[in-house]
Amino acid sequence: MTAPVAVILAAGKGVRMKSEMPKVLHPVAGLPMVMHVVRAARSAGAQRLIAVVGHGRQQIEQRLQAEGLEFAVQEQQLGTGHALMQVRGLVGEGETVLVLCGDTPLLRGETLRRLLEVHRQSGADASVLTSCLEDPRGYGRVVRNAGGDLVRIVEEKDACAEERAIREVNAGIYCFSSTPLFQALDGLSPDNAQGEYYLTDVLPWFLGHGLRVATVLHPDAEEILGINDRVQLAQAEQVLRQRKNRELMLGGVTIIDPSSTLVDWGVSVGEDTVLYPFTILEGSSRVGRRCRIGPGAHLIDARVADGTVVDKSTLWDCQVGEACQVGPYAYLRPGACLERGVKVGDFVEIKKSVIGQGSKVPHLAYVGDAEVGSYVNIGAGTITCNYDGRAKYKTVIEDHAFIGSNTNLVAPVKVGYGAITGAGSTITKEVPPYALGVERARQRNISGWGKPEAESSTSDDS
Ligand code: UD1
Ligand code: CA
Repeated sequence: MTAPVAVILAAGKGVRMKSEMPKVLHPVAGLPMVMHVVRAARSAGAQRLIAVVGHGRQQIEQRLQAEGLEFAVQEQQLGTGHALMQVRGLVGEGETVLVLCGDTPLLRGETLRRLLEVHRQSGADASVLTSCLEDPRGYGRVVRNAGGDLVRIVEEKDACAEERAIREVNAGIYCFSSTPLFQALDGLSPDNAQGEYYLTDVLPWFLGHGLRVATVLHPDAEEILGINDRVQLAQAEQVLRQRKNRELMLGGVTIIDPSSTLVDWGVSVGEDTVLYPFTILEGSSRVGRRCRIGPGAHLIDARVADGTVVDKSTLWDCQVGEACQVGPYAYLRPGACLERGVKVGDFVEIKKSVIGQGSKVPHLAYVGDAEVGSYVNIGAGTITCNYDGRAKYKTVIEDHAFIGSNTNLVAPVKVGYGAITGAGSTITKEVPPYALGVERARQRNISGWGKPEAESSTSDDS
């Protein structure tokens, strides 16, 4: 059998989110909700993925285009059955169609694999994933006959009291043979409480035409949670974060307090790294082996190589080499690149600068648009004056230079190999290799300046 085509229904408005952003783009564990569904579909073997879009269509297409999805447009949201009709031109005869909803981020690939397996092995034409809920409110209920076979699915709004008491619900996840599916969709009518074309109504059509409908009762009800509001969004967030932390721990990462450690889905962390409490690793961050991260570290799309220590600092779109020491209270901004063995200490901000191997910026400094060589020491209070209000300029500091405390480096400027700047100097001209660049007024002492007035009349100073 060929790979299934996955169709993700995502045209609905998601009114209860009360948001300008389309519901399926709301992030869960750092990825748009719908991307978790895409991931599950891919891991179940789907190669083609089609999203049915309507509300917020442009935003969704823009975000998902790069993920290799195709799109079908549902101009008016007339129901789930109507949504599926929109992919008719994109799906051929005799294909297996996996139907998913864009708002179920907890769904696992293995669950879809099982649905597909049952669909194939039982020779069914339609297969439905179901689950039993303590509180089935809001879901369609699965109505079975005395023999236990599915008869139909009834929406809550159309259900009688007896049907509402049924706890087995429709997960909204199906597998169909494409040929009868599109025939059945042609036969739908919107004569129900919501005046919509219900996808669920194709099932009685299948049965009435002598086709087989299988059901797969999924034991983990949590997985089918559909996100409708921000309370459910937070629930899903928590579940995915727990799954991610668990995966990391099983992969050799120590997480001292998983409940206060937030790691986005797209992040990787190497073996024997320890994550201390209140650490947040976001986006596409990558942390190597044997690192010590946190407490209170915040990484956004940052790369940290093996054996590095990051304490209470923010690292954003930057690269940190092996065996570095960062923080506490460092701020590495986009384009900061620390080579091996660099130390960046407290209250240091680095932007778009390379800091060479073994160099140290231990405290209270701003380094921007700079190229710093190896084994350089940058004293406390040093500032690269890289901006004149119009343009940015570069500072070059060669290997083994020593920048005295409180130096202003007015860019463009260069400090040569092994050169030194005097503490408090404002350096505007190149300092040649091994030279001392010093720029400050000579000190003068005014004696007695601080004496009480009564005594000062007798003192002589000039
Ligand atoms: C649907 C099922 C219900 C099931 C539940 C599971 C029907 C009639 N009901 O109900 O049995 O228990 O899902 O979560 O199918 N959508 C469109 N276009 C539309 C309408 C919906 O693309 O015109 C999309 C939505 O964006 C959403 C999905 O389809 O991703 C489900 O729609 P929703 O309105 O949430 O259906 P439910 O009422 O929850
Ligand atoms: Ca729903």
